[in-house]
Amino acid sequence: MYDLICHNFNILSYLRSILNINVMKIELTHTKPFLGEAFVDELESRISSIYETIYKKTGAGNDFLGWVSLPSEIDENLLSDIEKTAETLRKKSEIFVVIGIGGSYLGARAVIEALQNHFATLTGEKPLIVYAGHNMSEDYLHDLMAVLDKKDYSLAVISKSGTTTEPAIAFRILKQHIINKYGEQEAASRIIAITDKARGALKQLANVKGYKTYIVPDDVGGRFSVLTPVGLLPIAMAGIDIRQLVKGAIEMEKQCKANPTVDNPVSQYAVVRQALYHQGKTNEIMVNYEPRLVYFSEWWKQLYGESHGKQHKGVFPASVTFSTDLHSMGQYIQDGLRNLFETVISVENSNHELRIPTEADDLDQLNYIAGKRISEVNHKAELGTVLAHEDGGVPNIRIVIPEISACVLGELIYFFEMACAVSGYLLDVNPFDQPGVEAYKKNMFALLGKKGFEEQTKKLNERLGL
Ligand code: PA5
Repeated sequence: MYDLICHNFNILSYLRSILNINVMKIELTHTKPFLGEAFVDELESRISSIYETIYKKTGAGNDFLGWVSLPSEIDENLLSDIEKTAETLRKKSEIFVVIGIGGSYLGARAVIEALQNHFATLTGEKPLIVYAGHNMSEDYLHDLMAVLDKKDYSLAVISKSGTTTEPAIAFRILKQHIINKYGEQEAASRIIAITDKARGALKQLANVKGYKTYIVPDDVGGRFSVLTPVGLLPIAMAGIDIRQLVKGAIEMEKQCKANPTVDNPVSQYAVVRQALYHQGKTNEIMVNYEPRLVYFSEWWKQLYGESHGKQHKGVFPASVTFSTDLHSMGQYIQDGLRNLFETVISVENSNHELRIPTEADDLDQLNYIAGKRISEVNHKAELGTVLAHEDGGVPNIRIVIPEISACVLGELIYFFEMACAVSGYLLDVNPFDQPGVEAYKKNMFALLGKKGFEEQTKKLNERLGL
């Protein structure tokens, strides 16, 4: 079935699909020894009603459930419009700058970095996608502008609220840069604003300046917004087929809807991670063996960290790339504090084939693996690590995907979004708010003397002895 959805039809893929070896799977063999049956039973008994809560929109944060049916409800006109805009801008841009932070950039970056060449910065692929507004580093923006001085570029400024400080600062700086470079009119044709339909400073600014604007739906929160223009426009700018991405997500949406029970992979993942958490495994490490998935883990960390870390509860999400990090974090994972579990994204097929050559003198003593594909060695490293970590007391959840493609990523995105909602309700928190993010902003505004924060400025000054 998978191949019929994610690939053009061919007989080999068809055979693989009927043998059911080419669909996303969850494997719990290396998790089960750690699970207390009683916890699992108790959690499983809540699953059906949690799905009912999600589909009937009766739970906490029910104003933000637009992502649930987003893939299947995406408007064809919107997709075509995004494709058309991307096509026009791609022609005149060597660089495309994505300005946004948190949910307003991580989803796009996760997909783009997973699908573009590892060395896109060096291959001359155009446009190169770069990011801004996700930090407040003066040096970062300085270096970016020095590059933009010499390149043709366009940009998207993405902020649902339209008021977030980091992207607002980056946009103010880059807006001046792009106007100085091209003049008001041409600059306006190179700027896309993606924001709320009415609220926020960015919307007002876009209206006044006449920027092309895409809307972030009211009922889709930032970290669930990758399948809205927030993610789709930058992804299309990278030359990636956004229809394949959406297609994969639709498939997972359908699977969840057709089987809202303990038997679907989403529920299994949500239940198992929650059961492990109850048993003191409070840190989940997302593991990949493909460096192109680093930003997928970053997206996942934000999704889970911001959705679950509240009321002094929640699994702490971390990530590693193996085998790289086996030489840095491997010791701790094997042998440190036993509060960890791992979720491994295991990729069955590489996109390219590369074998280890034989050497007559075998001076480096590698002939025992000569003729093998690098991916085979990588898979053995994965299996060896999973078994070693299991022996060391680290449960391993394995999520097996056939390959890294737009369609599979779409499937994974929806999988993790739905599992995030189910996990959040199992944890008894509202997975769709982020009240804790305001604390640093309040202090920052007070320290910067923003109007309306005078009381907090006074408190902080006393605390700091100023
Ligand atoms: O998931 C979220 O809601 C947040 O991470 C936001 O995406 C992030 O704070 C950026 O917000 P905004 O898009 O309003 O600038």
